[in-house]
Amino acid sequence: MTRISVTVDGTKYEDEVEPRLLLVHYLRDRLGLTGTPVGCDTSNCGACTVDLDGVTAKSCSVLAVQADGSEVTTVQGLAVNGEWHPLQKAFHERHALQCGYCTPGMIMAARDLLKENPAPSADDVRHALEGNLCRCTGYQNIVRAVLDAAGATEPSAQEVAT
Ligand code: FES
Ligand code: FES
Repeated sequence: MTRISVTVDGTKYEDEVEPRLLLVHYLRDRLGLTGTPVGCDTSNCGACTVDLDGVTAKSCSVLAVQADGSEVTTVQGLAVNGEWHPLQKAFHERHALQCGYCTPGMIMAARDLLKENPAPSADDVRHALEGNLCRCTGYQNIVRAVLDAAGATEPSAQEVAT
């Protein structure tokens, strides 16, 4: 077992973990933060995306011991004083989810995009989310939601569709 100290969604945790424990399993099974799902466990789907020291990371491809000394933000850490993050609101209002399995990862990846590029085009959004798979929505409303959260004007149907 290895001792780690990690801050998750603003709370500091000290734990003994097995060296092989994946960060996503640490978040879910040890800390009870089940808002971060496991979609594939093989680094393909992006559902498990979190913010690790300011950079998005697929938490199924990071060991918990690698997060020692780090700050992790999950989708559960985005709301402030019970107020949803603008991306959470936009996904809700734009019906940008169906089963919702991909949504935490989509929101975390979109948040990273908006930090770098506060006024993205629909193409920018699609490019930023290409590592996140959705089997339900067809992506159109996800793109619309991210553009909404960015405060963008209504994209043309053609811009969203291309
Ligand atoms: S569960 Fe991590 S990328 Fe799919
Ligand atoms: S809403 Fe079901 S996988 Fe995206």
